[in-house]
Amino acid sequence: MNNYHIKDIELAEDGLKRVIWADKEMPVLENIRQKFANEKPLKDLKISCCLHVTTETANLMRTLKEGGADVLLCASNPLSTQDDVAASLVKDFDIAVHAIKGEDNDTYYKHILKAIEHRPNIVMDDGADLISTLMKKGGDAIKDIFGSTEETTTGVIRLKSLEKNNILKFPVIAVNDAHTKYLFDNRYGTGQSTIDGIIRATNTLIAGKNFVVAGYGWCGKGLANKARGLGAKVIVTEIDPIKALEATMDGFYVMPMKEAVKLADIIVTVTGDIDVLVKEHFISMKNGCIICNSGHFNVEINIEELKNLSKKINKNVRELVDEYILENDKKIYLIADGRLVNLASAEGHPAMVMDMSFSTQALSVEYLKHNKNNLGCKVLNVPIEIENHIADTKLKTLNIKIDRLTEKQKNYLESWEYGT
Ligand code: ADE
Repeated sequence: MNNYHIKDIELAEDGLKRVIWADKEMPVLENIRQKFANEKPLKDLKISCCLHVTTETANLMRTLKEGGADVLLCASNPLSTQDDVAASLVKDFDIAVHAIKGEDNDTYYKHILKAIEHRPNIVMDDGADLISTLMKKGGDAIKDIFGSTEETTTGVIRLKSLEKNNILKFPVIAVNDAHTKYLFDNRYGTGQSTIDGIIRATNTLIAGKNFVVAGYGWCGKGLANKARGLGAKVIVTEIDPIKALEATMDGFYVMPMKEAVKLADIIVTVTGDIDVLVKEHFISMKNGCIICNSGHFNVEINIEELKNLSKKINKNVRELVDEYILENDKKIYLIADGRLVNLASAEGHPAMVMDMSFSTQALSVEYLKHNKNNLGCKVLNVPIEIENHIADTKLKTLNIKIDRLTEKQKNYLESWEYGT
């Protein structure tokens, strides 16, 4: 393999060990990999993937390759690449990788252009940077593509905007919106990996802290619950009245950010929108407040405004932690430059949940291949049969048995005649 741009190929040995470690907790994906190896359903396909380069992603790449595809991987965030994994993919699995942890914006987009030059037939995106670059600079490459999958909430929102404006050029399967993805990955994965990232970066104690979660979607819900489990007093901020009510009845304090910042010891943004923390909030924060983001893009914390308020910035007071000193000597600690804290400062979601997300990805790609010409240029849900198959297989691997409907029960559920 000579199609790669990674940090150091010599890191492959460590990467391989970690990829195999993650694979132990990904039995559903392993199952699909074996089936793909036998049937080669992706033969003659070129697939370009723009994903976080983690051990779990490596196992997905292996699966697509076993299915017969010619795969290229680039990063979906400049700070989330695990360089040892990138090396192992190239050296041990002969997969093209263009990703380096800490790459600047320019390099990040050069790597995305490599994914376009690969001339894919299928695109797998996480956040829609690959598809949006393809739309702006892809030229002819778009003609070869007959479908895509999208991994995350933010990406699905961007793609729905393309669909609404009638400029989507191929079908996109919204993997994020599958139950087998958001109920586990967004909720339990983000909950645990975000706390993991904060603790690795700061070694702070969560118990007894005022912990603010901005956004009560599936990721926010998971995070608020995990923080509570560690003994924090959790405050939720929301703009959606239904979600705010839900957070209230789930037992969390709910208030506007303007009030929450005055109490906060730790603040995590996980809304998917811009300017969740801005100047007026920084001014009201307590000395020593830790702030970070677990939403897809680094736009939720307005770092420019934080910089403008600061008389001094001490970079890396701990790895990935910057200290901003405001005019009145107040210190605010920002983790990972406002990028995804769970991937920049930890290893992302554990393999146990990524097993379901990435099995959903692999089977969605196979579905795109089989239904190539009859899906339309739409954002589509994952077929329920795929979701049920994944959930069933996961239960089996966990040795959990469940009841099945009797014929009488099925008939009852399908009828309208029965009443009181
Ligand atoms: N997104 C969140 N966690 C991830 C992981 N472990 N691998 C790939 N993408 C992720």
